[in-house]
Amino acid sequence: MRIAVLCSGGDAPGMNACVRAIVRAGISAGHEVIGILRGYSGLLREEFFLNEQGQPRMSLRSVSDIARRGGTILHTSRCEEFYTESGQKRAAEILRKYKIDALIPIGGDGTFHGAVALAKYWDGQIIGCPGTIDNDLLGTDYTIGFATAVHTAVDAVDKLRDTADAHERMFLVEVMGRHSGYIALYTAIAASAEIACIPETPTEVSEIIRQLHELKSRGKTSVMMIVAEGDERGGAAALQKALCENGCPFETRVLALGHLQRGGSPVPQDRLLAARLGDFAVRSILAGKTGCMAGEQRGELVLVPFEQTYAAHKPVPQELVRLLETLAS
Ligand code: F6P
Repeated sequence: MRIAVLCSGGDAPGMNACVRAIVRAGISAGHEVIGILRGYSGLLREEFFLNEQGQPRMSLRSVSDIARRGGTILHTSRCEEFYTESGQKRAAEILRKYKIDALIPIGGDGTFHGAVALAKYWDGQIIGCPGTIDNDLLGTDYTIGFATAVHTAVDAVDKLRDTADAHERMFLVEVMGRHSGYIALYTAIAASAEIACIPETPTEVSEIIRQLHELKSRGKTSVMMIVAEGDERGGAAALQKALCENGCPFETRVLALGHLQRGGSPVPQDRLLAARLGDFAVRSILAGKTGCMAGEQRGELVLVPFEQTYAAHKPVPQELVRLLETLAS
């Protein structure tokens, strides 16, 4: 059997560990693994990973020592052409031309939308692995890269707290999560921040000002506020402006962590998740499955139809929203 793997959309730490697992699980079961470079764009351009012998297939050595590295050796991209019917049809033709039997796309909701579209024109098997720092896919408790992104953000907030304390200021730290407050909420709790502004539980500016006055009256001299980039006001800078115009009782500074959160060596939790899901994706293909994401729910490996992974907004745990409020006092 010939199994292809690609990474698509925003990169996530742990994608390499996932590629390694797919390659090693596939080859050790006696199959061929093809690495498609640069996601769906690379597929349309017929760009393949070359092994040590210059052949367009991956070897056991192609993935040596990559699990600890951020980014992805396959590179990734966002592909406009793949949103079109002609792009999807051409991708299907290319997969047939190279006699590929199965595809494992690693990515987020855009990647899985692409997989569903491709399946209309290609009858090979497709099993996806959830690779996105946003943790916004339904059907898996965690996505590959989320734990590392939170780790990176917490490290940054810890450092900012030092300077915030010294100057008795408030920092608005913007974290990624286009439509999701997962990174913001987890970072806020782990870094002992006082407030998280997330799209799932929008808070009026007047209410935030009230909370800030209350914190001040309780003797707080520095405040860390974690703002999801998907916050309804358009991020931390916009929120800072709104707060300052409405009588913010603290001197404020803003930092958007941006793509820093997507880099770095994956934490063990992400490496382990990536390894388990990559291996499970291969085993699922060998068992004849298709049209699903390999996910993890309460420690168990599960297959979830692609359509279900992006059918609705993944809710943040209300227990954590409440916990943050309790601990911020
Ligand atoms: O989907 C992952 C993500 O990192 C989002 O959190 C963020 O909004 C987006 O990608 C940024 O995309 P780009 O790398 O194209 O700027």
